[in-house]
Amino acid sequence: MTPAPRMAVIRAPDAVRRQTRQWRKKGRRIAFVPTMGFFHEGHLSLMRRARTLADHVVISVFVNPTQFGPAEDFEGYPRNVPRDLDLARGERVDVCFLPRAERLYATDRRTAVHVTGLEHVLEGTTRPTHFSGVTLVVLKLLHIVEPDVLVLGQKDAQQALILEHMVRDLDVPVRVVRGPIVRERDGLAMSSRNVRLSPEERRAAPVLFRALRDARVLITSGERRVEPILRRIRARIAEEPLARLDYVAIVDARNLNPLERLEGRVLIPIAAWLGTTRLIDNLELSVRAAS
Ligand code: PAJ
Repeated sequence: MTPAPRMAVIRAPDAVRRQTRQWRKKGRRIAFVPTMGFFHEGHLSLMRRARTLADHVVISVFVNPTQFGPAEDFEGYPRNVPRDLDLARGERVDVCFLPRAERLYATDRRTAVHVTGLEHVLEGTTRPTHFSGVTLVVLKLLHIVEPDVLVLGQKDAQQALILEHMVRDLDVPVRVVRGPIVRERDGLAMSSRNVRLSPEERRAAPVLFRALRDARVLITSGERRVEPILRRIRARIAEEPLARLDYVAIVDARNLNPLERLEGRVLIPIAAWLGTTRLIDNLELSVRAAS
């Protein structure tokens, strides 16, 4: 057996582009997984998915300053690059792009990318500048890596939708694939921020998942009205004294428009505070109109 080639850790954007262009010249396909690091199974599942979709897998690890608001946790965002590199090697990633912020962002940059109508609702209400930071960095990364496939997680459904729109609207030649939400055994959606939870908060955190599960049960039993489902979710969250609901909504998964009745591709995004940590989760499902 020939040993797997070693993962290259590359800091310079030009060097990444040289490598991916070389592969493309040979007819090889490239899948790309952008991340902010501090890996958990959710990230690793996307790398595995990427492996099945292309000949080469490129990931990026970059805690992107432009997507954090002034009062948010950029400095305190959990980081552990050596551990991330080990885990990525274990997933047979070919290139880990580790850009430096100073190199990626010129101090006099003036360009912004706005996906209007989608970026200021739901997550964007609490985090008004968040998604323009995400679109800016992901568009830059796509221009550097030039992948055939971009692999994103359903955990951040609004982010995935916004990036799908951006790619389509700006004719970026990449296919977007979403991987499912990976959860802990008790249902809590994996997140780099989960390490911030105190033991009590960690025990309370699966309440988001349980609220969504309640919603699914109601929908499966035929409920198509929005209000009873929202009421059930709010009641479930209210039962947990350590959790404070930020928002919950029932929207059309294709455009985030609020629904009056459930039909078609339905997204139920939810955000809640556990102490000083804000967690998000969602349920997306295809709903047939009530007969
Ligand atoms: P990050 O939070 O590190 O997430 C990287 C990718 O992993 C995203 O596509 C996210 O949706 C996915 N992911 C996170 N938790 C997951 C889970 N439990 N199950 C499945 N997938 C999960 O999202 C970002 O970084 C950044 O905004 C980024 C796109 C890299 C731009 O900076």
